[in-house]
Amino acid sequence: MRRFLVLTCLLLPAPLMAQSVLQRSPNLSGTWVPDAGVFQFNFLHRFYVTGAPSHAVVNFPTFTLAAGLPSRLAVGLRYATHADAVTGSGTNETELYARWQHQFGTARAFTIAITPAYNTASKSADGELGADWTSGPITLLGAFRGMSKAYGLDTARIAVAGGAVIRFTPYIGIAGDVASLLSTRPGEKAAWSLGLVIAIPNSPHTFSLHASNVDVNTIEGSSKKGPIVTGLNKTIYGFEFTVPIHPSRFGAMFHRAPKPTVTGDVGAPIGATLVIASLKFGTDTITISAGQAVRWNNGDPVVHTVTFEGPEPGSGEIQPNGAYVHRFAMAGTYTYHCTPHPFMKGVVVVK
Ligand code: CU
Repeated sequence: MRRFLVLTCLLLPAPLMAQSVLQRSPNLSGTWVPDAGVFQFNFLHRFYVTGAPSHAVVNFPTFTLAAGLPSRLAVGLRYATHADAVTGSGTNETELYARWQHQFGTARAFTIAITPAYNTASKSADGELGADWTSGPITLLGAFRGMSKAYGLDTARIAVAGGAVIRFTPYIGIAGDVASLLSTRPGEKAAWSLGLVIAIPNSPHTFSLHASNVDVNTIEGSSKKGPIVTGLNKTIYGFEFTVPIHPSRFGAMFHRAPKPTVTGDVGAPIGATLVIASLKFGTDTITISAGQAVRWNNGDPVVHTVTFEGPEPGSGEIQPNGAYVHRFAMAGTYTYHCTPHPFMKGVVVVK
């Protein structure tokens, strides 16, 4: 049951969910996979401004689309409309990938991911073995990469990458990474990025502002310093916005709602009904008359409890779509909270 609570809490908009830019650095994809039934849309945009007199803005967008499957599997693609990892192949680069993630322990202390991929621009079978380790506010990331025909050239290449994230609060941190091909050739230098990573409060979205010397964060694109439109070796700036999409919120297409169950003093005269939603007990204070009952309906996708500070018996777990009814025989002020979410608090005043 504890495991169930941990899993269900991960489905809620939380600042540190698996798709968060607070868990990875701008050029590393880390080990994240969307939860099963969840789609992920990430928009990475980098740009630079050309010199006088034109001052034109040159844009490098990369879209990541991924779908979470059961068993911590995901499939996805990265599509860059203005890539230059492969010279002379046009500017579109698409990387198709699958990912399998494995977490050691329940707290994401150490996670690995295996990501086989195919880059359509270079016609190269690519892959990454990634790992990350989290301890409190710090996440360290590493990746080992292989490419069968990197950059469209007929040679297999290997690259390594490392990065770190330091979170100052659950909502803001800094991140950076470095990646390099092994046995570099003349002109090939390490790729790097530095970023400010931000979770947007009360939303499942995260955002980063960053600088890098590469334009695209595919396996190939982020493994060496980019030509950034051949000949221009520039630092370019950009941002990334991450958007998880939960189809279940649009009508329970993936999750059948559990059968509602009502526990407690079922049948007692109801003086007030509260709907628990978005990790809140509806209203903080409710007033009823002695002898009446309060009914709590759980409208959240996670289990809550009504646990009294005093000797009053509490609810036990209230399942999603379930309800708890408690009759108050005596006048008084009854304060309560939710055991899994202690910041959820409420008061029943019985007159
Ligand atoms: Cu709760």
